[in-house]
Amino acid sequence: MLEDVLKTIAGRREQSLERLKSFLSIPSVSTQPKHAADVRHAADWLADQLRFAELDVRVMPTGPGGSGHPVVVAKNRHVRGRPTVLYYGHYDVQPPEPLDLWDSPPFEPTVRDGKLFARGASDDKGQVWCHVEAVTCWQAHGGVPCNLTMLIEGEEESGSENLEQFLEEQKAHLAADVCLVSDSAMFAPGVPAIDYGLRGLCYMEVFFEGPNHDLHSGIFGGAVPNPANVLCRVLGQLHDENGRVTLPGFYDRVEEITQTERQMWKQLPFDEAAHMKAVGLSHGSGEAGYSALERTWCRPTCDINGIVSGYIEPGAKTVLPSRASAKVSFRLVPYQDPHAVQQAFEQFVRERTPDNVKVSFKNHGLAPAVVVPIESKASELAAQAVEKAAGRRPVFIRGGGSIPIVASISQTLGIDTLLVGFGLPDDRLHSPNEKFDLTCLEQGTRTAAALYERLSLLPTKSLPVAG
Ligand code: BES
Ligand code: MN
Ligand code: MN
Repeated sequence: MLEDVLKTIAGRREQSLERLKSFLSIPSVSTQPKHAADVRHAADWLADQLRFAELDVRVMPTGPGGSGHPVVVAKNRHVRGRPTVLYYGHYDVQPPEPLDLWDSPPFEPTVRDGKLFARGASDDKGQVWCHVEAVTCWQAHGGVPCNLTMLIEGEEESGSENLEQFLEEQKAHLAADVCLVSDSAMFAPGVPAIDYGLRGLCYMEVFFEGPNHDLHSGIFGGAVPNPANVLCRVLGQLHDENGRVTLPGFYDRVEEITQTERQMWKQLPFDEAAHMKAVGLSHGSGEAGYSALERTWCRPTCDINGIVSGYIEPGAKTVLPSRASAKVSFRLVPYQDPHAVQQAFEQFVRERTPDNVKVSFKNHGLAPAVVVPIESKASELAAQAVEKAAGRRPVFIRGGGSIPIVASISQTLGIDTLLVGFGLPDDRLHSPNEKFDLTCLEQGTRTAAALYERLSLLPTKSLPVAG
C-alpha cells in the first residue's frame, strides 16, 4: 500500500510545490503584533488543506480570552485498537528582517537552483507541508493506517507561551501513544537523522538605567556611571577563560556525556573545519575539552542575542547613554532547571551592578531540555520508515535548538517524541535567504507517508477514544 501512496506523491509533485508556495506567501510572523491577522489567515488556510484531506479540523483559540494565536487540531476517524500518533508542527515563522539581505522577498516564495527560498521554507512550514501532503496522498488509498491527531501551533517562534495551558486543557482530546515532530534537519545531505535530544532555553532581557537622561560624555564622563560600560563589565563576566559559564550552580546538575554517545558522535561524517569555513570562520571556539558537536548538543551555553545602547547612527556622537539593555539566552541540557538559571542570572547581575544604576529584567521564555530513549519500539519503527523513504538508515543525533513544547508533551501527555527532520543544516533558519531543497520536500513527504505506515505497528498503550 505504501508503494501506491509513494506513487501518488510523485504524481502530485508540481501541485504540492504550488500549494506550499501559497502557504509560504502568508507572513505569519507570530512575534510581531502587526501580523496577527496573517497568523490567523495561515491557520485558516492550513485548516482548509486538512479538510481537503478529509480530516476533522478545528481552529482553536488559545490564551486568556483567546488572545493567543490559534492552534489547528485535525483528526482522522480514530479506530479502536490502532495506535495514535500525535503530530506536532508550527505554522508561524520568525521575523524576516533584515529585508535587504534577501535575494528574493521573504514572502514571495521563489525556486532557484532546486531550492525554494522563503521565510518558513524549512522552519517549519515546508516540513509541516510534507506531513499534510503525505496525509492527503494516503487519503486516496484509504487514509493513514494509524489514528492521527495533528496539532499545529502558531506561537512556537515566540516561545509557545499559551500552548502548555492548551495541552493541559485538551489532554484527553490529545491523548496519543507517541508524538511525531519534523522541525529539525538531516545530519548532512544524504544522511537522514533522528534527533533524540534538544536543548532547553532560559531567555532573559536585562535593563540598566543610570542618569535620567543622556549626558555629554566630556562634561559628565568619569564622574557618573555609564550603563553601557556597566553592561559590558557585568555580561563580560559570564564566561571564564575556559569558555565555561560562571553562574554559580550552573553545572551542578549537568551530566557528563557518556562514552557511548561520544563514540557514536565521533563516527558521524562531520568535518569541523568545513563546518566553520561554511560560516566564514578560520576555526570554532567554546568550552574547553569538547568537540563542536558536543558543545552544541550536550553542553549548556550563554549567548548575548542583542545589545541596545547609546549612539548607533553613522558618525560620532560623544554621548553618555542613560540606558543600556541586552537580550541574553542560556541553552540548557537535561536536569538543568530553567527557573534556577533565571534566578542565578538575576542575582549574578544584581551583585555586580553598582548601586547607583538601576537594573530590571524581563523573561522571554523558559523551556527545559529533552532527551528521549533511542532504544524504543517507536524509534526503531521511525528508523525503518526513514530507511524505506530515503534509502538510508538515519543516524541518531541530538539537536542544539529548542522546541519548548516537547518537554510539556512528555510531562502532560506522558509520551515520547520522535524528532524526524527533513531539512538540511545549511537551510539558514531564522536568517535571510531561508530555503528548503526541493529534494527535501519530496523526500520529506515520502518519509512522512512511510512514518504513518510504520507507526501503525506500534503497540497501543492508551484506549483510543472514538472520533
Ligand atoms: N525548529 C527550531 C528548533 C530546532 C532547530 C531544533 C534545529 C532542532 C534543530 C525552532 O523553530 C526554534 O527555532 N526554536 C527556538 C525556540 C524559541 C523559544 C524561539 C530556538 O531554538 O531558538
Ligand atoms: Mn521550528
Ligand atoms: Mn525556529
